[in-house]
Amino acid sequence: MIAWHENKFAPKPGTILCKPTEIENGAAREFRFGGDSPFAFRMFVYNDAGNFRGFHNSCPHFDIPMNHTPEELFTPDGEYFQCVTHYAKFDKSSGICVYGPCEGKSLQRIPLTMEANNLKIGTA
Ligand code: FES
Repeated sequence: MIAWHENKFAPKPGTILCKPTEIENGAAREFRFGGDSPFAFRMFVYNDAGNFRGFHNSCPHFDIPMNHTPEELFTPDGEYFQCVTHYAKFDKSSGICVYGPCEGKSLQRIPLTMEANNLKIGTA
């Protein structure tokens, strides 16, 4: 697995994602870079009580996106992120897999910054 920022369509530092108010507390918002390309870069930002965390949407098991819809990023009880392919569960703070075929591996964190009330990609 390559580092997230080495992907062809990975967003550059300073890329604006959205306003922080556009992601509700406890929710995640997905972002896609690269249009309809099969190699498009997918990521999501999770709002943990105003603490925004960015993750590459790529399961460390098979290096494929974890979901089909935004709701599927979470387990039904909302306690973990999940991958719908083989149902791995990931800690929402660290991104570490705590259950499933990739246990111990981690989603890649994407650094974020806040500038002028915009959430932006930080420096890798
Ligand atoms: S591809 Fe995600 S758990 Fe297998």
